[in-house]
Amino acid sequence: MTAFPAATETGDMMKTAIYPGSFDPCTNGHLDIITRSAKIFDTLIVAVLTNNNKAPAFSVEERIDFLQRVTAGMENVRIAAFSGLLADFARTRGADVIIKGLRAVSDFEYEFQMALTNSKLNPGAETLFMTTSTDNMYLSSSVVREIAMYGGALDGMVPEEIQTKIYDKLRR
Ligand code: PNS
Repeated sequence: MTAFPAATETGDMMKTAIYPGSFDPCTNGHLDIITRSAKIFDTLIVAVLTNNNKAPAFSVEERIDFLQRVTAGMENVRIAAFSGLLADFARTRGADVIIKGLRAVSDFEYEFQMALTNSKLNPGAETLFMTTSTDNMYLSSSVVREIAMYGGALDGMVPEEIQTKIYDKLRR
């Protein structure tokens, strides 16, 4: 059977996607979306919001460091910081797609509003929703922070290589 040539060999357009978030800290749920998106797009930019209204528990540097550790070896994944509007950041990076993870129906209304807003601001970037895997449906950064604060087990919730760093920062 003949293998399909790579996009670079045929001159096809390379597709770049952005996966934005606070990643405070990144969880296995985030890593699952990153891993699956990286298989679909030529380049995936994981974009860490720096000017969040919520005061983050981890600094931008820490959040970026965690993401770099857990995505080490994923050759088409880049980690970047951004501030201001996501639509503008997508434009400056030439991104075609914005990836959003959906855990539950309750996520949808807000994400739907964001998708329409971003499309109005930057019609060149299409929002794609990716459903979370069932294992991670309950997971969120805030749940992880609370468990870490009280010294609970984070196994299966955040990648092993960043667990100690999360406890070091949050454990009371
Ligand atoms: O992980 P989060 O906190 O749910 O991520 C939210 C994020 C970063 C995707 C969202 O807050 C965002 O895109 N912020 C940038 C500002 C923006 O573009 N807002 C939408 C138009 S009002």
